[in-house]
Amino acid sequence: MPFFAPVFQPLHAHSVCVFYPGSTESAGNGARDTRYIMADKREIILSGIRPTGRLHYGNYFGAIKNFVDLQSQDNTCYYFIADYHALTTITEREDFYQQTIEMLRTYVACGLDPVRSVIYRQSDLPCTAELTLLLGMITNIGFLARGTTYKDKMGKLEEAPGGVEGNPLSYGLLGYPVLMAADILIVRANKVPVGDDQRQHLEMAIDIAQRFNSRFGETLTVPEGIARNALRLPGLDGAAKMGKSEHNTLDLLDDAATVLKKIKSVPTTTDPEPLGTDSNHPDDVIARMPNSVGALYRLLNLLAPEDVYLDFVGKYRRGEKFYGTLKTTLAEYVSAFNAPIIEKYHAPGNSRETVEEFLRENARKVTPVALDTVEAVRAAMGIGHSLYRA
Ligand code: TRP
Repeated sequence: MPFFAPVFQPLHAHSVCVFYPGSTESAGNGARDTRYIMADKREIILSGIRPTGRLHYGNYFGAIKNFVDLQSQDNTCYYFIADYHALTTITEREDFYQQTIEMLRTYVACGLDPVRSVIYRQSDLPCTAELTLLLGMITNIGFLARGTTYKDKMGKLEEAPGGVEGNPLSYGLLGYPVLMAADILIVRANKVPVGDDQRQHLEMAIDIAQRFNSRFGETLTVPEGIARNALRLPGLDGAAKMGKSEHNTLDLLDDAATVLKKIKSVPTTTDPEPLGTDSNHPDDVIARMPNSVGALYRLLNLLAPEDVYLDFVGKYRRGEKFYGTLKTTLAEYVSAFNAPIIEKYHAPGNSRETVEEFLRENARKVTPVALDTVEAVRAAMGIGHSLYRA
């Protein structure tokens, strides 16, 4: 087994170990592998996604699209499925693993590229758990207990004991932000795209990194957030948010018949009221419509050519009878958007086995980078490099 101390070279803050592009050979013990090189990519980007089963339009326009755009630039992108984090809330264990794989197949079908981006499962990088433990030594309980997500959960628990999923009193839930900090710091990410709901968690990670560096010397790369160029899509029922637990989603794998059925059932009973604005910008227009109608216009604006969208805004202004055609037109654009995703999802090159294989391969790629950080942290904290690693 390797003795790690001598083979780990400190990494330049903005460089990262990557394998030669296109190399499909496994690194095995990446630490000794000479096939990976120091590459100066512009940014090291990392983001995690909780496994949630089927992906919907809210996920796509809120996150996936952004991830796909970022990978097309000259960045090193790490995207992982946060299955350790999911353990704080997971209730259905039976098909959880299966769902994670299905979700990855959908990501690939949407254009996340497992060659250009390093896509892995969090639990396939178990040294993240080691870093979590180490960072836990410098993280105060009060700091964690003051986090808004945590406080919200505790508030809900008081209101309705038993109404909070998972085990809200666990050490794991309190430590959620420490695990998230470990995810980010372990690959020395400098840019982290997060939505509003995760901004505070990212700030906590920044705080933990700074605290570590000031206490033990410059060891960790302090990350920055980047605004996710994201849209919060309303649900098909007009609720503010499209969400799986709200049962109001349009899914990326819905076939044409399902799409039509879902869109037809969007409530559009009220007659159009005057919009009270000359602007045709979706943000102005949609805000003045009943919520569920606004949801249809938002989707039309995202998927159809500008003139189709403007034509329907005109119909709305004139108060014509048009909801039927709006719905069938929109359903066609949605189905046309879904069709290539569905096809790619079922492609032989995107089978369960293939996905498992690239997860394995990508976990191998990220492991040497991650171990390098863990070893540096161990050394900085005084326990020294590991003498043995399974
Ligand atoms: N907590 C994030 C969420 O619920 C997922 C996540 C885990 C994450 N680790 C991360 C996001 C690291 C960004 C960076 O959405």
